[in-house]
Amino acid sequence: MTSPSDNREIRPLRAADAPRITGLLAELGYPSELAAVTRRLAVILRSDTQRVLVATPGDGSRLDGYVSVERRPALPHQEETLEITGLVVDATARRSGVGRALVEAAERWAVRQGLRTIVVRSNVVRAESHPFYEGVGYRRKSTSHTYRKEI
Ligand SMILES: CC(C)(COP(=O)(O)OP(=O)(O)OC[C@H]1O[C@@H](n2cnc3c(N)ncnc32)[C@H](O)[C@@H]1OP(=O)(O)O)[C@@H](O)C(=O)NCCC(=O)NCCS
Repeated sequence: MTSPSDNREIRPLRAADAPRITGLLAELGYPSELAAVTRRLAVILRSDTQRVLVATPGDGSRLDGYVSVERRPALPHQEETLEITGLVVDATARRSGVGRALVEAAERWAVRQGLRTIVVRSNVVRAESHPFYEGVGYRRKSTSHTYRKEI
């Protein structure tokens, strides 16, 4: 039997993915203007410290999800880490291993960068993300509040 994962491709983001990334961002609860997403993706594509990987079926007809990661500099109390800054799988493609494949691809990129630890912060309201991260080998370290000020 052919599993849905047999033809899946995980590849680096391309500028032409912007419309589909915009669609996934809306699904994540961040409705965004295509022009703004295109501009931000261009910055990421030029960055040495950020990376976005996307999941497509083999024929490239859709974009089933993406993961974005960023290198975080070493701090006095910890070595440099890789942080997962975004992860979303299209609602129609969930529970078929796409999220796991994206996270594993990000982990391989981290290893190639010489990094040994990956961190992810996920809002408590994202109910499915918590069993997901536990399911792919991550352990909960802490719970925190986020503060913000417009300056
Ligand atoms: C969280 C998310 C990325 C998971 O993607 P996915 O492709 O459905 O996950 P996978 O199919 O690779 O699941 C891998 C494992 O995680 C666990 N898991 C995933 N979703 C789960 C859920 N809803 N409930 C319980 N366990 C779950 C399971 O152990 C699963 O393995 P199994 O299917 O063999 O049982 C997806 O649900 C999503 O995009 N949610 C909305 C956005 C979000 O919460 N992003 C994370 C914010 S940081």
